[in-house]
Amino acid sequence: MSESTNQFIKPLTCKTNESGHLEIGGCDLIELAKDFGTPLYVLDEYTIREICRDYKKAFSSYKNVKLMFASKALCTMATTALIASEGFGFDVVSGGEIYTVHNSGVDMSSVLFNGNNKSVDELILALDTGVGRFSVDNFLELSLLNELAKSKNKIADILLRITPGIECHTHEYIQTGHLDSKFGFDLTQIDEAVDLILGRYSNLNLHGIHAHIGSQIFETQVYHDEIEILVKELVRINEKYGLNLNEINIGGGLGVKYTEKDFPPSVYDIADVIITSLENSIAKYGIEPPTIFLEPGRSIVSNAGVTLYTLGSSKQVPKGKYYFAVDGGMSDNARPSMYKAEYSAQIANKPEEESLQNVTIAGRFCESGDILIPRIKLPEIEEGDILCVFNTGAYNYSMASNYNRVEKPAMVLVNNSQFDMIVRRESLSDLISHDIIPDRLRKNV
Ligand code: LLP
Repeated sequence: MSESTNQFIKPLTCKTNESGHLEIGGCDLIELAKDFGTPLYVLDEYTIREICRDYKKAFSSYKNVKLMFASKALCTMATTALIASEGFGFDVVSGGEIYTVHNSGVDMSSVLFNGNNKSVDELILALDTGVGRFSVDNFLELSLLNELAKSKNKIADILLRITPGIECHTHEYIQTGHLDSKFGFDLTQIDEAVDLILGRYSNLNLHGIHAHIGSQIFETQVYHDEIEILVKELVRINEKYGLNLNEINIGGGLGVKYTEKDFPPSVYDIADVIITSLENSIAKYGIEPPTIFLEPGRSIVSNAGVTLYTLGSSKQVPKGKYYFAVDGGMSDNARPSMYKAEYSAQIANKPEEESLQNVTIAGRFCESGDILIPRIKLPEIEEGDILCVFNTGAYNYSMASNYNRVEKPAMVLVNNSQFDMIVRRESLSDLISHDIIPDRLRKNV
């Protein structure tokens, strides 16, 4: 089976250039660090386009496929416009994501709104901007959405988010399809939901069902199981209610290679399992091929992104670890402290030097748990060296915080030796721009 872009640790254009530095998209990373400062997110346009093309190619033999990028992995206006230009729609989960996608010029009929506790304001924004599908998660949302759609004289096109009861072997916090999950209708609640939609909620138009089984998935069998369960459920609902629902959203989840120990399947591997399983189910039930929605997030942007840090202070614990600190950490990449996520890195100004020493890369935040990479072999480090951490395109910027009142980094998009800042670095004045001192306190200062 062919390889796909998600199976590489580094961006596809990453190499050592004539100056002996790492470059991505034809841009010298040391120059970028000088021009834009660190920490800096760098994103390779070519790698994103290639994985989008892998997805399109892998699923091309099944005609009714809709590819939607899960914005939660990375949501900026430039990346949204870039991914839209590859023909992808978008899965959004908040008013902020809807607003970003809408302002990026995306055709909103290709957008699907997910989430387990959508607010009234968010539902209104989704209706007003013309979001194409709502994945309705629970009974409260059914009634709210129906009411809001009615007040606007609109019909909301919906899928029902269901919990298929599939356990996949990923971190507990990023599993979502198992039975004891906060997301979606339990299989036993579906009929009650369909009864309400058909009997009472005349401003809702049901098209099908949706599930998402987890993230950073390395197994292919779970997709086979998911398709079996979802098609069976769709057929059952259609037969019981005399309906012709024909949409199945199978969520995202394909894993990526953070370190040499990771072996994620390729997009072609999962497409093969998904399409074979679909064809078997279609033949078994004698149904028309349903439209399949996929919502990949991580696998689209993760290895296109790297983060550049400047190495600063160090500490050799007597008979213990050799710590080197960078100028970022858990606020620009929460994943190591949240999920014990592992990362690979190189020193961008001397990538070819032999890696002989074991070091611990520490963040700059005031917590002992702020360790970016607990153990990595690197060449001898000098203060001022630039560390390039790979695979930070997904769930880094999108989960960034201002912990310790540190400004969020800038992001630069590189391609064909061209670089464009797509997210401006936060400034100190940005940090206080939302703060208000009440007059009664102001008098004292
Ligand atoms: N669709 C739904 C309904 C989802 O909940 C998610 C991710 C996706 C699609 C995209 O899944 P992906 O292809 O990215 O695996 N913050 C965690 C990941 C949380 C994923 C939540 N849902 C992390 O950094 O690992």
